[in-house]
Amino acid sequence: MLHSTVGVQRGGGPVATARCISGLMEPVPAPMNDRPMHRRILFVADDPHLHRFLRQLMEPLEGEWQACYCRSGPEALKQLSDGPYTIVVADLRLGGGYCQELLIQTREQAPETVRIVLAGPGDQELLLRVLPLTQRILSKPCDPAELYAALQRTHSLRELLRSPAVVSIIGRLGQIPTLSTLYSRISEELLKPDYSLAKVGELVSQDPGIAARLLQVANSALIGLRRPATTPAQAVRVLGGELTRTLVLAADLFTRYNPARLKPFSIDALWDHSQAVAALAGKIAQSERLDDRSVRDSTLAGLFHDIGQLLLASQMPEAYREVLSLARREGLALAAAEQQVFGATHAEVGAYLLGVWGLHDPLVEAVAWHHAPEQCPGTTLSPLTTVHVAETLLNEQEAGRPNVGYLERLGIEDHWNRWHDLARKVETASREVPLK
Ligand SMILES: [Fe+2]
Ligand SMILES: [Fe+2]
Repeated sequence: MLHSTVGVQRGGGPVATARCISGLMEPVPAPMNDRPMHRRILFVADDPHLHRFLRQLMEPLEGEWQACYCRSGPEALKQLSDGPYTIVVADLRLGGGYCQELLIQTREQAPETVRIVLAGPGDQELLLRVLPLTQRILSKPCDPAELYAALQRTHSLRELLRSPAVVSIIGRLGQIPTLSTLYSRISEELLKPDYSLAKVGELVSQDPGIAARLLQVANSALIGLRRPATTPAQAVRVLGGELTRTLVLAADLFTRYNPARLKPFSIDALWDHSQAVAALAGKIAQSERLDDRSVRDSTLAGLFHDIGQLLLASQMPEAYREVLSLARREGLALAAAEQQVFGATHAEVGAYLLGVWGLHDPLVEAVAWHHAPEQCPGTTLSPLTTVHVAETLLNEQEAGRPNVGYLERLGIEDHWNRWHDLARKVETASREVPLK
């Protein structure tokens, strides 16, 4: 089994070592160490209008954020060495195709820096090439409320993941799973200007275990293909490169562990539950008319939302048996029992893993706060909302009703009945077309 070691830094914070897989440097997983958080932000854009606009936008935040502005990629690279920066925001249309290079360099030189890209409506092709390198995408023209919320959420997420309770539990884990080699190879392929889905399909075919699980997911109620895919190449053609890449990550994690060693924890039950939440979260996102990216992120976040359970159960099987028996004995929700035994829950542990892997922030925050969405700043409907609602609807006896205060803050508390109907449909569909 592949693992990256989690060492302990001076001061006690965990820091996992960098590694190189297939020639591609993976994000060095040290974004959540215990150094004090500097709220510094670097904006990189060569469009003078955008520059002026960003400066105006940041004016009200001067007390909270120290902002620096660069007009070119090379200037920004020089500025990076004057870091650390909390966030780098780069315009996708940066002259000379410099955005991709800047993101790669930032990932290598300052892996703890969050990478955000500004992209316009016509930038889909370009965007695909930088997706594996970025943690958040903001749309142009830039909406002030969207920018402020993104900065706040980015900051709060890092604060949560570097809290003493999370640092302590991650330190106890000792090891965390590395990114799968197949995921890294697909990422490399997608970074090429002339990437091909046929090549991605070929790569997936080389790992029969993952290929089988990917086909299972593609043909389940989760994705809802009109015609069933029978080969990995067909599945990849329909899913697209980006969705395939992240599904491969989930498929890999769920096939890594020996189920017998983790009993009574059940990997199969977790897989079924995760797929059901993923399917419903995606449907809720569609019904709320979220954009395609948020629909996809809702589905993926649903698939990953309880991954921390798998991590805790596999790395500390004895302690996790204690969690399961405590929950059963005292009628506690799993997260409450985990809190008693570990001082943190599977939500933070799962989010930590996804953060270390460099997955998109909307996915990471959905996992981090799926039991307590009110702790995430912001008033917009996001994958966090859809996963929280889906989890609650499909797990009613454990989670009860959703957090009404949170839904009221978003102004969507009266959508509950509609979501309830969707949940019944997903349950029926998964009985007709089994999720596994
Ligand atoms: Fe769950
Ligand atoms: Fe959960």
